[in-house]
Amino acid sequence: MYFPQYRPRRLRASETIRRMVRETTLSPDNFIYPMFVTHGKSVRKEISSMPGNYQQSIDNLVKDCEEVHGLGIPAVILFGIPEHKDELGTEAYSDEGIVQHAIKAIKNKLPDLMVITDVCMCEYTSHGHCGVIRNGQVQNDATLELLAKEALSHAKAGADMVAPSDMMDGRVGAIREALDDGGFENTPIMAYAAKYASGFYGPFREAAESTPQFGDRRSYQMDPSNSREALREVELDIEEGADIVMVKPALSYLDIISRVKQEFDLPVAAYNVSGEYSMVKAAAKLGWIDGERVMMEVLTSIRRAGADMILTYHAKEAAKLLDK
Ligand code: PBG
Repeated sequence: MYFPQYRPRRLRASETIRRMVRETTLSPDNFIYPMFVTHGKSVRKEISSMPGNYQQSIDNLVKDCEEVHGLGIPAVILFGIPEHKDELGTEAYSDEGIVQHAIKAIKNKLPDLMVITDVCMCEYTSHGHCGVIRNGQVQNDATLELLAKEALSHAKAGADMVAPSDMMDGRVGAIREALDDGGFENTPIMAYAAKYASGFYGPFREAAESTPQFGDRRSYQMDPSNSREALREVELDIEEGADIVMVKPALSYLDIISRVKQEFDLPVAAYNVSGEYSMVKAAAKLGWIDGERVMMEVLTSIRRAGADMILTYHAKEAAKLLDK
């Protein structure tokens, strides 16, 4: 049936009918809010390239988590800014580390808020790489041990889920084994499975103070040109025991999200990363786009591509709009 019998505009005539035929839904249930925790008291320092996001000390972080929880957002993911960085990133797996303390404080106040932790070395190492360095190279197998220790110490502190973001080979298996041996066989792993070496992480590196001091991350993060390789990476992480698989970044990789969703039956997460957030904020500030409208369009498109959950700095703002 074609025009004039068939008229697609009939189903767009009012908001009511548009609601009835809408294929993709967006809800605070879909969001995971990333947060940055730092040492000290009463610290709340805005990240200049990510307006509305802060480095916060634990007292303020917990208050912010109360707001997140109140908005119906089920989960946060924590990134830590250590007091001291060193070659081996020791604060990452110290039971007295900033993230370990933050987990306890949040769970104490808000037992129902899911606390996910980013498991990586780059915020904690003096060189800013995601693993151990020898002869100027990031060592894969030596790093696995540290990542496993880090994940285990997060779980011991009360983390509900761990999310390795380093892209070392074999890390999901190493972490699964360490968790199981430590009695945390029920702690799920959300693997940053297809994580690309992306320019969109720029603002995050200011937020987490994790810029590599030499070279870049292309020897461990994926080449933006590849998609079949992403499926292989996801498959490996699933084989090793991932419970949720993530694609990162989101917007330039909607095709990857879509393929991963079609090929595998695990829940799919997508990380709407810092640069994607900052671009929307910057253009809105200049008056070039309607920031709220573009935010909702971006988040909807990530869901439409197939993401079950979205890690996004927009989470609070979007949840407030959805509540209206
Ligand atoms: C740590 C990590 C990064 C991000 C999440 N975990 C930075 C990186 O890999 O350089 C990026 C998040 C963002 O840009 O919002 N490895």
